[in-house]
Amino acid sequence: MASYLQIADDEKGHELDLFCVPRHYENDLDKVIIPHGLIMDRTERLARDIIRDMGGHHIVALCVLKGGYKFFADLLDYIKALNQNSDKSVPLTVDFIRVKSYCNDKSTNNVKVIGGDELSSLSGKVSLVTHDIVETGRTMQTLLSLLSECNPKMVKVVSLLVKRTPRSSGYRPDYIGFEVPDAFLVGYALDYNEYFRDLSHICILNDQAKEKYKV
Ligand code: IMP
Ligand code: MG
Repeated sequence: MASYLQIADDEKGHELDLFCVPRHYENDLDKVIIPHGLIMDRTERLARDIIRDMGGHHIVALCVLKGGYKFFADLLDYIKALNQNSDKSVPLTVDFIRVKSYCNDKSTNNVKVIGGDELSSLSGKVSLVTHDIVETGRTMQTLLSLLSECNPKMVKVVSLLVKRTPRSSGYRPDYIGFEVPDAFLVGYALDYNEYFRDLSHICILNDQAKEKYKV
């Protein structure tokens, strides 16, 4: 079982005033729940664990857009640092796919995959799917079943966050950064109707903001 840093249900988080948060979001957030520095430190360790396990192969790192883009970029930077500073190194190529399943703060049953044509290039390859957050697990399960049609040699999934929720299908990624409470989180590329990707820390969205940015 993947190990992870657990953020408890009663975690109080940190006051916004203690960190730098864009002015335009100051009234929309309750607490900073995972500061950017902690995300980076945990990501550095995930890079090490991934290279330890997958290091013998050429890895195709597949970024699941849009929410995964920050985590993808930072994880790959740490993998690159390992490659540059050790005797063993792993060839790495990148690919991108876009999925959409959310409206407001609810997962819809309809998981849309955009850019799936490129997936055939993963045939026979070892891929590392990089994802922002697993809630029900439906997005990742849909994507994994599409990937398996392309006969990859190996697929591993790393998700920065996994939500503790009764809505979970039971799906767990191979690598997990943090396990988080059942709240709506934004920042570090996680969005609410496309807002809050431009926020460095992972924060809890407040109820007024859910109304304000509702579509
Ligand atoms: P799942 O298919 O229910 O596992 O949902 C995963 C997707 O829903 C993620 O890739 C996100 O795009 C979105 N999502 C789920 N929970 C949150 C959240 O707390 N904040 C932002 N996006 C979320
Ligand atoms: Mg989203």
